[in-house]
Amino acid sequence: MLGVAGGIAAYKAVELLRRLTESGHDVTVVPTASALQFVGAATWSALSGRPVAQDVWQDVHEVPHVRLGQSADLVVVAPATADLLARAAHGLADDLLTNVLLTARCPVLLAPAMHTEMWEHAATQANVATLRGRGVLVLEPAVGRLTGKDSGKGRLPEPDEIFAAAVDALSPRPQDLAGRRVVVSAGGTREHLDPVRFLGNRSSGKQGYALARAAAGRGAEVVLVSAASLPAPAGVRVVPVTSALELREAVLAEAGTADAVVMAAAVADYRPVERLATKRKKTDTLTVELVQNPDVLGELAERRRPGQVLVGFAAETGDADGDVLAHGRAKLARKGCDLLVVNEVGEPGHPTGFEGDANAATVLAADGASYAVPLTSKDTLAQVVWDLTVDRLGAR
Ligand code: CTP
Repeated sequence: MLGVAGGIAAYKAVELLRRLTESGHDVTVVPTASALQFVGAATWSALSGRPVAQDVWQDVHEVPHVRLGQSADLVVVAPATADLLARAAHGLADDLLTNVLLTARCPVLLAPAMHTEMWEHAATQANVATLRGRGVLVLEPAVGRLTGKDSGKGRLPEPDEIFAAAVDALSPRPQDLAGRRVVVSAGGTREHLDPVRFLGNRSSGKQGYALARAAAGRGAEVVLVSAASLPAPAGVRVVPVTSALELREAVLAEAGTADAVVMAAAVADYRPVERLATKRKKTDTLTVELVQNPDVLGELAERRRPGQVLVGFAAETGDADGDVLAHGRAKLARKGCDLLVVNEVGEPGHPTGFEGDANAATVLAADGASYAVPLTSKDTLAQVVWDLTVDRLGAR
């Protein structure tokens, strides 16, 4: 089912429809009345090869307001306008598309498009959070040129991106983490020097978020202890933290009842001895004394529950003492975890590791095995990490 709401980006949904039908999917298009102001029913009907489902009063004997949602394998709405998000979040059923959203029990994917002000408005953000909390997949709008001369966040994601997300939502995931509770940490901690400045690192949090999203997709109850500020993945409980000490407290509190803990966060090794309450004034030279932070993964290993799987990450560059994997092996033994995901990092622009969406890694296991994962998406690497974790989980 392709829902189309009333926004100028409706014309781009035509390309999405082509991609969906050309790859063999049967698509019924449900445009709202406003969407038909932008692209007419004839276009949707010709390209889908089916009648367009327009309103609840058409073919009433077939009860379309119930049947369409019930029979869909996936509902995609592109563009999802601010109005459509609001109606979906509040469970309104004032047209055929919102009726479909209420009766669908399949994955629902919404691709928002609107002006930046509308997207950033607290009402829209609350509606998006509500929808994500219910497991609806809400894509982030793209940044770029909007309808008028202005540009900013709010563009419909490219049809290729929506298509990829739709295919992903349609592919069945093994529910091998159902009934399991997992904790994932993500992002780089910030160690404050004063109210304005901090010591930090380049971790974006994307790999940790991909791990949390993947675990939720495989049925786990997921707690994401996050030092990053990315949109919360669907169905994941996020515990926001800033410093290594806050992260430690949150992870240890959640780990007590967890079946697996994945430490993808880049935890600062040191914090300033002193955190000033007011902004530090400039001096000719500045010496900051640092003290070591506790090793959270090490503490987790000491307190490990029977059957609990611990996964660490190691971003290494290799040096005169050994290459990336030699450092990884030593770290795995020192940390006492079951799996260590070792990746080589480099300067900004290096294809793997920090800010980007791609990663490559070697996963080292405590039993001596190692698994090379060539350059791929952070989502795919996340699935590999869960495959290996599931193999090592204790009996329930
Ligand atoms: N880690 C942690 N607590 C810390 C530092 C790191 O739990 N204080 C975790 C990270 O989340 C990661 C793993 O330990 O999963 C390895 O992090 P890394 O910084 O590579 O480890 P270090 O022990 O700090 O090793 P190095 O001496 O190479 O910095």
